Amino acid sequence: MRADNAPVIRLEDYQPTDYLIDTVSLAIGLHPTETRVTATLALRPNPAGHAGASLALDGDELVFVSAALDGSPLAADAYTASPEKFVLHRPPQQPFTLTIETCVNPTANTKLMGLYRSNGTYCTQCEADGFRRITYFLDRPDVLSVYTTRIEADTDTPLLLGNGNPAEAGALAEGRHFAVWHDPFPKPSYLFAIVGGDLDHVEDVFTTASGRKVKVAVYVERGKRERARYALDALQRAMRWDEEVFGREYDLDVFNIVAVSAFNMGAMENKGLNIFNDKYVLASADTATDSDYANIEAVIAHEYFHNWTGNRITCRDWFQLCLKEGLTVFRDQEFSSDARSRPVKRIADVRVLRSAQFPEDAGPLAHPVRPRAYKEINNFYTATVYEKGAELIRVLKTLVGGQHFRRGMDLYFERHDGTAATIEEFIACFAEASGRDLSAFSQWYEQAGTPRLSARGRYDAGAKTYTLTLAQTTLPTPDQPEKRPMVIPVALGLIGESGRELPLTTADGATDGGVLVLDGAERTVIFTDVVERPVPSLLRGFSAPAILDLDLTDDDLLVLFAHDTDAFNQWQAAQTVATRIIVRAVDALHAGGTVQVPVGLAQALGHFLDARALRDPAFAAQVLSLPGEADIAREIGENIDPEAIFTARKAVRETLGQALAGKLAHLYGELAIDAPYSPDAAQAGKRALRNGVLGLLTAGDAARGEALARAQFDAATNMTDRLGALSVLSLVAGEAREAALQAFYDRYRDDPLVLDKWFALQASIPEAGTLERVKRLLSHPAFSLSNPNRTRALIGSFAMANLTQFARADGAGFAFVADVILQLDPANPQVASRLSTAFRTWKTLEPGRRAHAEAALRRIAAATPLSQDVADIVTRSLA
Ligand code: BES
Ligand code: ZN
Repeated sequence: MRADNAPVIRLEDYQPTDYLIDTVSLAIGLHPTETRVTATLALRPNPAGHAGASLALDGDELVFVSAALDGSPLAADAYTASPEKFVLHRPPQQPFTLTIETCVNPTANTKLMGLYRSNGTYCTQCEADGFRRITYFLDRPDVLSVYTTRIEADTDTPLLLGNGNPAEAGALAEGRHFAVWHDPFPKPSYLFAIVGGDLDHVEDVFTTASGRKVKVAVYVERGKRERARYALDALQRAMRWDEEVFGREYDLDVFNIVAVSAFNMGAMENKGLNIFNDKYVLASADTATDSDYANIEAVIAHEYFHNWTGNRITCRDWFQLCLKEGLTVFRDQEFSSDARSRPVKRIADVRVLRSAQFPEDAGPLAHPVRPRAYKEINNFYTATVYEKGAELIRVLKTLVGGQHFRRGMDLYFERHDGTAATIEEFIACFAEASGRDLSAFSQWYEQAGTPRLSARGRYDAGAKTYTLTLAQTTLPTPDQPEKRPMVIPVALGLIGESGRELPLTTADGATDGGVLVLDGAERTVIFTDVVERPVPSLLRGFSAPAILDLDLTDDDLLVLFAHDTDAFNQWQAAQTVATRIIVRAVDALHAGGTVQVPVGLAQALGHFLDARALRDPAFAAQVLSLPGEADIAREIGENIDPEAIFTARKAVRETLGQALAGKLAHLYGELAIDAPYSPDAAQAGKRALRNGVLGLLTAGDAARGEALARAQFDAATNMTDRLGALSVLSLVAGEAREAALQAFYDRYRDDPLVLDKWFALQASIPEAGTLERVKRLLSHPAFSLSNPNRTRALIGSFAMANLTQFARADGAGFAFVADVILQLDPANPQVASRLSTAFRTWKTLEPGRRAHAEAALRRIAAATPLSQDVADIVTRSLA
């Protein structure tokens, strides 16, 4: 069905089901092409539904085999069965069992939804609506059932895993065997999973706070066992953290994680049986970067944390997706903050929010954190639901305070455990725990768009007062022309020009705990006893997802950069100054002038590096990493010319690299590590800064930088250093680059996850030749559009991380990506659809490029057949 005529699902139309399914008993006979699924459902009329209604179960591409009611075959006129639906016309009005047999072909399943095979391993992906590709069901999150799963397979598939606890297993005749799994916790169908395969594993025993023993295990392809150890360790640290910070224990006897190479997403929280993209499991010093390790830790924690926020308490409907995703992202962010550096993690998270969510919120795909309508739910696993959703939890915590936040969480777990909840129910727990009215806060869930927060300050030296006026506006978004003010907690401080933090005194105690709450369009506060002219430090720690518009001078910002006690705002001040300089450089280039870099920034960076680089290298690496091209594009906002931004940014880096050359060279030597590799935050911080230093140094002095990069590449003992050097080398056209790329390929030709890095790096080269290179790589023997990781590495990187080449002036970049989307769509619409979101900022481009982007989008929209997934994205993008 085309999205333009697909039905719109609306939040306001929510109705409970007419029937409930208390238990599900599944018998699955695994076979490569004809897997038999027998589902026995214990049903009863839902007291909250319509009495006497027919029972319509969802299906998707199912082959119906047979059906029985309470054990007796159904008469032909009692039901209708199609690939998309099973309808029982006159269900009994007391409890009954329905047994339905279906047949599915996992080998032919290229959509990677439902039951499929990844490198021979049988696995499943059911969220959001994949269970209906396995058997007919009320495939929606508010139908909670207790599942028992019997899996049968040939003995060459020795490992058979299911949800819950293992119940029974044994040998059968004719080279077959079976395993039975029972999950005592009622769950929605999207959390169902099985795995069948021949895998290696690592395991351990985790003892919970109350003394229960849990067998934890991570399953990976044979030969990769050692690469699973870090994931197993991260899992146990996450389990302990959730006990300590949220008081939540694990609840089953086993917790299994299985890594597969073909996976549409990052990972999935199936009850007791998480299934992961192996990119978020496998790690060794030689194959994974420090960022890979950090991502593995975060994703393992995220999926584990879902056990309470998502599984024990799930979502009433998919409009409530942020109830589990935003909250769980918040929880994994907090876990990583505690495991590593809090300010550095905050900076990294805000970078993600700004680069992924802000453009979404400012473009045609904007939607509220809790959307009101959708055509294709798989298109709503967005940065808005996830990242902005996590920010709203942080805003809530700031508003009610840490203690009330924890009490509200406890109340939520207590009150809603075992149910499917809503955002209203969640917020009510915090209103009750804190005794506050949170109705204004809840508007954040309803209104799309990023508020712009402007701050204007005036110092009266005679009266020693500082008057600060904060105001907010939000631009219109699709379907929401009028905007209301949001409740914005503005964490703030005042820094004197001398560099010291000034006390916050107001007549009415307006800045409780350093937080000023703006809950209307505008608010003015007067600070008294301000003994020197202050520079305001606003939105400390990025206390709300807003765009801050400050009337500070560059010199004011450099005061904050040097002296702010809030590390986030220190970093922010340097970023803001650098952004201004690059934007001015873009203007200068457009006016036919040359790029000027004021000495102030270089000097300030120099002082900063002297004082902090060796003391806090991870933070220094964030400071040294200047705003990217997309950051500058967002700041400019419209009529974007990516080439001009690229040239201006490059020139600014060149100037800074030259101005700081001596310091950088010295630091590069000082930051070398001679201890054995460890992915811990301390070592990772040093490597991040050293690679950043190498990049800036090379920007200032290409010959010297390349020599260092070449030496680093040859001597590297870990992937972070090797890839860091290679990416510096990749920026300089010539034989040295090609030789390094070839050497890297030769070393890792049998390692798919490392080859992904090799494809991604080449697709990201900001040069006119890159499109041809990417087209050539499409026919490389190691490339395949049927592996999502490979597709994202080559095509995703080109479309999302190479602005100048994707948005080439001649439109060839857009046309190429459109071709790939159309080629991929019939096989895997979800991956094709995600790729098509690369066009989400097309309206901000200058007219020539805009026209090319529009033509590419129109060509996709006009194609037949076109999946509902892609049609939905391109139609909304064009609107
Ligand atoms: N529940 C999701 C996985 C998912 C996403 C299933 C979309 C179906 C459709 C899982 O918990 C998740 O959020 N995974 C993220 C990674 C996470 C660390 C944010 C993912 O897969 O990108
Ligand atoms: Zn999640």
